[in-house]
Amino acid sequence: MKYSPLVERIGGDGSNAWEIHYRGMRRVRAGEDVIMLSIGDPDFDTPAPVVAAAKQALDRGRTHYPEIVGELPLRQAIADYHLKTNGQDAQPDQIVVLAGAQCALFAAAMCVLAPGDEVIALEPMYVTYEAVVGATGADLKMVPLRAERGFHLDPADLEAAIGPRTRAIMISSPNNPTGAVMTRAETEAIAAIARAHDLWVLSDEVYASLVFTDDRVSIASLPGMAERTATVSSLSKSHAMTGWRVGWVVGPVELARHVAKLALCMLYGSPPFVQDAALAALTDPVAIAEVARLHDTIRARRDLVFARLNQVPRLALHRPEGSMFMLLDVRQTGLSAFAFADRLLAEEAVAVLPGDAFGPNAEGHVRISLGLDASLLETACARMAAFVGRLP
Ligand SMILES: Cc1ncc(COP(=O)(O)O)c(C=O)c1O
Repeated sequence: MKYSPLVERIGGDGSNAWEIHYRGMRRVRAGEDVIMLSIGDPDFDTPAPVVAAAKQALDRGRTHYPEIVGELPLRQAIADYHLKTNGQDAQPDQIVVLAGAQCALFAAAMCVLAPGDEVIALEPMYVTYEAVVGATGADLKMVPLRAERGFHLDPADLEAAIGPRTRAIMISSPNNPTGAVMTRAETEAIAAIARAHDLWVLSDEVYASLVFTDDRVSIASLPGMAERTATVSSLSKSHAMTGWRVGWVVGPVELARHVAKLALCMLYGSPPFVQDAALAALTDPVAIAEVARLHDTIRARRDLVFARLNQVPRLALHRPEGSMFMLLDVRQTGLSAFAFADRLLAEEAVAVLPGDAFGPNAEGHVRISLGLDASLLETACARMAAFVGRLP
């Protein structure tokens, strides 16, 4: 049977990188002591009041068709959270609740990009962006975030990439996989370029609760940006709720209306009991305190791993300013990122992701996740040091 050309455009998923991850998972399932540093899923449990709210909602029969865009109290709670986290004063009619930041990014991209458009993405970038842009039919143009700049943008690179077909810039801060957080100056430079060339900004802020620097600003909060920015985020990372699939897009009212129509024909809303749980996540004091605890824990793990691995000759580290990831530059070992990850798994039972899947500027780097507890991270660091120590 014949399929749409779409299936080709959504085909790329960095599968080479995930091969190591899946191999590690198979060994874990077989009962082996493999430390999985390849997962971007916090090891925390979903806060108890959130689970309780979902159970109560199920008992109350909150199992029928939902309000497509999300119920008003939830969208109001998201608006309050967005103001607190990102400094943009948005109204509920600017918000659509979707199945995670992934779905929100997809929906926003579908509503602003068209075949023939060009969208600029800063790489290294999250592995799904290529398929998201591919689905819209637009062309992806990558602008480098170079390792030697700590994966921060040189605005001249962005300016040079703008062409007559450019419609949007996709950004992610804190960044997965680099852990870099865009500075205010960087963000202002992107905003100035977007305004000057009348571009959309698709801003993935799924790690906004995991920022370890003071020098961050959310682009939609800058002058003249709210009307041209779609900010996507979710409860996945902030509240350890990856499996609940709760995210949202915040944008201009008109964009929200278009996204709502797409949600109607594609998703038909988020289940009411999940919406109740999401409302608890954003309003219950215990759940809110958990967000701070998760932040502090990940930051402490970052400091621990940085201190341990920074002593290992031939590993060069990028100290994350946010997110739950760290990139290790392994080029001085003489191994490619894939060979490093492959052998580390085989010889020391530690799974990491080769950076290549995230873009050319992450070549020679491996990504490790801080989503495991400190003692496992310590063991993983010791195993990595032993592995590197044995290399010729
Ligand atoms: C940068 C980035 N964006 C989006 C997502 C998807 O998040 P969600 O679970 O909210 O769909 C992830 C998940 O790892 C991510 O790392």
